[in-house]
Amino acid sequence: MMTEKPTFYITTPIYYPSDKLHIGHAYTTVAADAMKRYKKQRGYDAYFLTGTDEHGLKIQQRAEAAGQTPKEFVDGIVDGIKSLWRLLDIDYDDFIRTTDARHEQVVQKLFQKIYDQGDIYKAEYSGWYCTPCETFFTERQLAEGHTCPDCGRPVEMAHEESYFFQMSKYADRWLKFIEENPDFIQPETRRNEMISFVKQGLEDLCVSRTTFDWGIKVPFDEKHVVYVWFDALVNYISALGFGSGDDAKFQKYWPADVHLMAKDIIRFHSIIWPIILMAAGVELPKKVVAHGWLLMQDGKMSKSKGNVVDPVVLVEKYGVDAIRFFLLREMAYGMDANYSEEALINCINTDLANDYGNLLSRTTAMITKFLGGVVEPGAEGTEFDVELKELAAATPANMAQYMDKVDIANAVAEVWKLVAKANKYVDDTAPWALNKNGETEKLKTVMYNLAEVLRQVTILITPVMPHVAEKVWAQLGLSSEQAGSDWTALEWGGFPAGAKISRGEPIFPRIDTAKALGAE
Ligand code: MSP
Repeated sequence: MMTEKPTFYITTPIYYPSDKLHIGHAYTTVAADAMKRYKKQRGYDAYFLTGTDEHGLKIQQRAEAAGQTPKEFVDGIVDGIKSLWRLLDIDYDDFIRTTDARHEQVVQKLFQKIYDQGDIYKAEYSGWYCTPCETFFTERQLAEGHTCPDCGRPVEMAHEESYFFQMSKYADRWLKFIEENPDFIQPETRRNEMISFVKQGLEDLCVSRTTFDWGIKVPFDEKHVVYVWFDALVNYISALGFGSGDDAKFQKYWPADVHLMAKDIIRFHSIIWPIILMAAGVELPKKVVAHGWLLMQDGKMSKSKGNVVDPVVLVEKYGVDAIRFFLLREMAYGMDANYSEEALINCINTDLANDYGNLLSRTTAMITKFLGGVVEPGAEGTEFDVELKELAAATPANMAQYMDKVDIANAVAEVWKLVAKANKYVDDTAPWALNKNGETEKLKTVMYNLAEVLRQVTILITPVMPHVAEKVWAQLGLSSEQAGSDWTALEWGGFPAGAKISRGEPIFPRIDTAKALGAE
């Protein structure tokens, strides 16, 4: 009997196609991709959505500056974003554009529904607007010198007739929901911030604009376009066909398991979005997870600051697996991380070349030299075997406890404990001495165990580095079917006895820091 797989639905924010995407944007997308691949390995039907957020004043202004219509402008950029994701091996299932008809219809439907039930009303808006962030602020929220509290740029006074969404009405329900679902906002520091924000008093949200027209029209008042954040957030359900003739995907995957993003937009995802859903009578997502920022020496990476690092250049120089590994390994859960090319090279040389790459090189070298290249367990073992096998057996669960919180850095660290243990096992068992003393049965067992650990580590790290497995299998003399690819293949002893090693180049060659940095 076929049993239905459990589902896992993960999203990234949809990106503004206004600036060139940088390595900071790539973090969220790579992390979501690794989560999807991990869940698939564990038997889930995993679905991953990303896309572009194409409306709003900022895009309209950019298009004008480029002498194009807004649609021409965004069309010219979206292909570049998709090819960046291809370059980074992002295996998304759907790419939604907020200019897609399938999306616009759902936004209009929801806006109409919430208006019909009396939660959207018309009033005069008077307040401050930050165009780069597409965000309204009250006087009290502004930073020094009337600047945007998020990006520090000047805000503009906006006076206009607008529609307002009665968020205030839902504040108590939101607080109750958060209390009953303590894991909803992750990590906890963000949860506490959001609770105190709502407790200070939730104001109604201005959800339409009349001073520009690049947006989705308010269905009952064509002078207005829907506020870009109301529009954008709805992508998470419009992409699944919510409210359309074919909502099979919505039925299957909603509620989302994880909305992933950086901390700058947690407020939109953890307060505004759930309240829109409450008003619409739609079930809330299960988790909203905010990671930190990737910082350059002089602050958050952003184009206006001129400190953008181009992922295309980095991938060409260091390879996609290494870049993905670095991003996911360096960004501690919920914290900011500093980016520098030196830190990247350091990570490649230490974790990848020294620890993992060298484990493969020395293992394949010794099997070739001492055992004619054949991997086969011997009749005897060593006193160090039990501990190695125990750690190998515990590693998947150790990793999972972090992956399931989207704490990928710690999950990778758990796998690397096994790599370290295997390197120590080489030193402890001293295979060269076993060889010299003619202890061939023990030697065979030691070599088999090392090959088996390499097989398991490689399966576990595939979601982070999708290309590494084929290189490792080639050196270990395994076909990908023999090696296995999901967690059912993690049973100890899965390495087929009799496989023949085929030594190759180091999978992660050491990088000469001075040369790499000097060559820029
Ligand atoms: N369009 C909105 C999102 C709407 S979602 C309904 C938006 N777009 S964005 O292109 O400006 O940024 C999207 C996301 O990129 C951020 O939330 C964050 O996840 C990621 N990052 C952008 N810069 C980043 C860093 N420097 N570091 C880490 N993540 C960064 O906001």
